Amino acid sequence: MKYIIHYEKNPGASDIQFLNDGIMKEHKIKKDMKSPDFFAYFIRDDQGQIAGGCAGDNMYGGLFVGQLWVREDLRGKGYGKQLMSLAEDLAIKSQCRFIAVNTFEWEALSFYKKLGFYVEFKRSGFDKDSVFYFLRKDLISGKYESMKPILLDFLMPIMTPRLILRPPQTGDGVVVNEAVLESFDQLHQLMPWAQDRPSIHDSEEFARQAAANWILKNNDEPYLPLFMFDREENRFVGGTGYHHYDWNAHSIETGYWIRKSCAGQGLMTEAVNAITQYAFKQLDIRHITIKKHAYFC
Ligand SMILES: CC(C)(COP(=O)(O)OP(=O)(O)OC[C@H]1O[C@@H](n2cnc3c(N)ncnc32)[C@H](O)[C@@H]1OP(=O)(O)O)[C@@H](O)C(=O)NCCC(=O)NCCS
Repeated sequence: MKYIIHYEKNPGASDIQFLNDGIMKEHKIKKDMKSPDFFAYFIRDDQGQIAGGCAGDNMYGGLFVGQLWVREDLRGKGYGKQLMSLAEDLAIKSQCRFIAVNTFEWEALSFYKKLGFYVEFKRSGFDKDSVFYFLRKDLISGKYESMKPILLDFLMPIMTPRLILRPPQTGDGVVVNEAVLESFDQLHQLMPWAQDRPSIHDSEEFARQAAANWILKNNDEPYLPLFMFDREENRFVGGTGYHHYDWNAHSIETGYWIRKSCAGQGLMTEAVNAITQYAFKQLDIRHITIKKHAYFC
């Protein structure tokens, strides 16, 4: 048999796959490695046309997102973040220890950093002084045990079909106060914090203390409350959140309340499902406790 080496520009995907299959066979023989899985999440319009997506591979305990792209007119609406969150969920479900991406500094470096990725190493020497960054985010179980609380990054907000759940912000006092006063008679009977009708200043003070604790992550009042807003009208709906966290025991407590005029629509079920899933998937939590009468506001 005679063998000749050919140059091929832009070779076909199946021919490249042939080489890959050969490499994977070697990996199996040498280290008994399991075959990688490939994945993609696509955003499609109602004609089935792709408007964005992300794709990559799940290999040997690391999930690599090789492609992430959102059509220009859909940018800045949260799709990129949502795609990365789905990839991260997949990585966690597949028990990956980390998720990784690569990017030039002029592509999406700060986008990934906002999502909690850190630069593992970088490569220079490309055209026009471009620098290629290799970033990763560790997902190993127990990731919070050894970290100073102030350095913990929790990706927010939490979105549900009808709600947006986010940490309190300066200026939230007015809308929270209105909702507490609307519901005061019920809250007063159930919630230890609702002894007296709060003033707008009391509610604003709480919102600011809570916003500060989302940075400090102290395991103390006011803990990590989340305010719930209706996605369509941006109306304040109620409060929930996390408290008494024990990262070593992977346990957390939660509580909630909803304003009178929003009760009976299944909104709280929607919110509690979301914060429970978030705790399991993002906070490495295995036990969630809810105690009657427990809340912070
Ligand atoms: C990067 C990309 C996927 C982001 O998609 P998107 O839907 O616009 O992102 P989101 O709306 O979810 O933005 C989330 C946050 O990241 C910020 N952000 C979005 N794109 C960014 C970028 N390219 N660089 C820095 N920050 C960015 C947003 O301002 C937003 O910030 P906020 O939460 O403080 O408001 C999109 O800009 C894109 O397709 N770019 C071209 C392809 C590309 O560069 N892909 C990455 C290759 S490594």
